[in-house]
Amino acid sequence: MRVLVTGGAGFIGSNFIRYCLRVYPDWYVVNFDKLTYAGNLENLAGIDEGRYSFVRGDIADPVAVEAVFSQGFDVVVNFAAESHVDRSILDPAPFMRTNVLGTQVLLDAARSHGVVLLVQVSTDEVYGSLEECEPPFTEDSPLAPNSPYAASKAAADMLARAWWNTYRVPVIITRCCNNFGPYQFPEKLIPLVITNAIQDLPIPVYGDGRNIRDWIHVEDHCRAIAAVIERGSPGEIYNIGAGCEVRNIDLVRRILLLLGKSESLIQFVSDRPGHDRRYAIDASRIRRELGWVPTRPLAEALPEVIDWYVANEGWWRRVRSGAYRDYYEAVYSRRWGGGLE
Ligand code: NAD
Ligand code: DAU
Repeated sequence: MRVLVTGGAGFIGSNFIRYCLRVYPDWYVVNFDKLTYAGNLENLAGIDEGRYSFVRGDIADPVAVEAVFSQGFDVVVNFAAESHVDRSILDPAPFMRTNVLGTQVLLDAARSHGVVLLVQVSTDEVYGSLEECEPPFTEDSPLAPNSPYAASKAAADMLARAWWNTYRVPVIITRCCNNFGPYQFPEKLIPLVITNAIQDLPIPVYGDGRNIRDWIHVEDHCRAIAAVIERGSPGEIYNIGAGCEVRNIDLVRRILLLLGKSESLIQFVSDRPGHDRRYAIDASRIRRELGWVPTRPLAEALPEVIDWYVANEGWWRRVRSGAYRDYYEAVYSRRWGGGLE
């Protein structure tokens, strides 16, 4: 099977590519990625290139998208996005371009090339925020996005829905909770806390720290997407959640404990504007219909993920210093000529 992965140089996309090449010996994967600040080819270093290749490009550029689609694909998995809520608050424009227009370009290309399936990787943030007493979001919960990021993802979901209903483009939307695991850009909470704590730097906790997130190991998310590709129904939406709800402050304290660091590193800072209080996902549809279950609960997997960041200090230090851009500048210009913008 030929699979086009967009955004495959980012956190989840790179884990997904590694997962697919390991588990499916007959899959050939092309990674189409713009290499924004979040794209890091080092995430894919050492990968066997017999069934993998990289194409640099922007999902919002119809010419580049047409060129890559002309290679012919059965399945497209769209991870490409601006993904960080805080950045969307500072500057929403790139979120609208990539997450909304980019999705429209991909849907159009999927339509004209007749792909068998397009998986639109969405997020639980499209549902908005829950109070502690409320039941988890189901696929039928109303969309109520609160950040520019979440609004852009909800808009993309609406496009996917419309392209299915109008043109019968075979699209499936997945809405997953917060991921953690190797190769996560250290602007996100868990890798930020781990890498700051290792360096004895202050750890910023927004507001009162009592916001709740449901955390899933990235490999469980990757397996869920693979299950959707293999057994999902076009036009359907699947929530993906691990049922591991934790308050931010408790998670931060647990990481500090596991690293043997002092809680005095914690600094409560101003809250994120529009900060969603709680996310919780009802994943019973994907469990029931596709037989997927999460296997790496936070309590068991967190020590191993912390160990990964400890063992891969060079990786995150190059990201934090900006030197990772030199890495892919070198790889990029050696292989394909030219440099980055
Ligand atoms: P990330 O920021 O780590 O990676 C995004 C990737 O997309 C990068 O490689 C970047 O270079 C690429 N990209 C950005 N704009 C592009 C464009 N215009 N064209 C081509 N490539 C482009 O993101 P992530 O955390 O891996 O998230 C991947 C997807 O999963 C996103 O769609 C996100 O909304 C969704 N998601 C993430 C989480 C999470 O916890 N991280 C949870 C649920 C859903
Ligand atoms: O729920 C899925 C979403 O999870 C994805 O769609 C997003 O792409 C992904 O970034 C993530 O969004 P969050 O906003 O939940 O993740 P983040 O890691 O930015 O923050 C997690 C929680 O920690 C949130 O309540 C804000 C808080 N936080 C975050 C940072 C970066 C802090 O308290 N301090 C921080 O420095």
